[in-house]
Amino acid sequence: MKILITAGPTREPLDPVRYLSNRSSGKMGYALAEAAREAGHEVILISGPVVISAPAGVTLVQVETARQMYEAVRDRLEGQNAAIFSAAVADYRPASQAEQKIKKTGDTLTLTLEKTEDILGSARSVFGFTGYLAGFAAETERLLEHAQDKLVRKGCDLVIANDVSQAGIGFDSEENEVTLCLPDASPFPLPRQSKAVLARELIAFITQQASLKKLF
Ligand code: CTP
Repeated sequence: MKILITAGPTREPLDPVRYLSNRSSGKMGYALAEAAREAGHEVILISGPVVISAPAGVTLVQVETARQMYEAVRDRLEGQNAAIFSAAVADYRPASQAEQKIKKTGDTLTLTLEKTEDILGSARSVFGFTGYLAGFAAETERLLEHAQDKLVRKGCDLVIANDVSQAGIGFDSEENEVTLCLPDASPFPLPRQSKAVLARELIAFITQQASLKKLF
């Protein structure tokens, strides 16, 4: 089937030399892209700035900001059988970008931020996506409650929830430990494992579920 995957962080510019970003390494999304490719799927990987290379045989679309990622997804989602949103998209960006480097004039500096586009939240409601939709929920508290809420609010078939307050898993780690949240089933915890092994399991699960729903 055709799978679109988002990965990595976004960078939201503040001035010509500074940006707001996060600790995402892109490892989970790139592992998913590799596993999907290995399973014989056609993969589009829309990625924020990361240091790892894209797996062979995957169509890589490189973006920087949340707005660019939103536009890249919007332009490519049609015709995809499944979409997995693993990118750590900035929720807010500086409301204005200074044309020149901001100088150190005061003792404090207040930034005004504005909301970015919610890409996962737009998949169904704005882009009219009807394929299998999977998102991630990276939370530091009330993990399953937040994940379940995200599942319903954004019309997902699957939310992959991970507790990013735990050391050694999630952001910028080699391993991950997630719980699968589905609309009509109890949350299903998976053991802590390498992102490569987890990615293969997730792709196998998504392929099976998408096939049951006759999405390809
Ligand atoms: N996501 C996205 N676009 C955004 C923010 C998040 O597509 N602007 C996606 C992420 O790729 C991930 C999922 O949404 O799959 C959850 O990200 P998270 O930041 O936890 O979601 P939010 O809806 O921003 O969470 P909350 O409403 O709890 O702040």
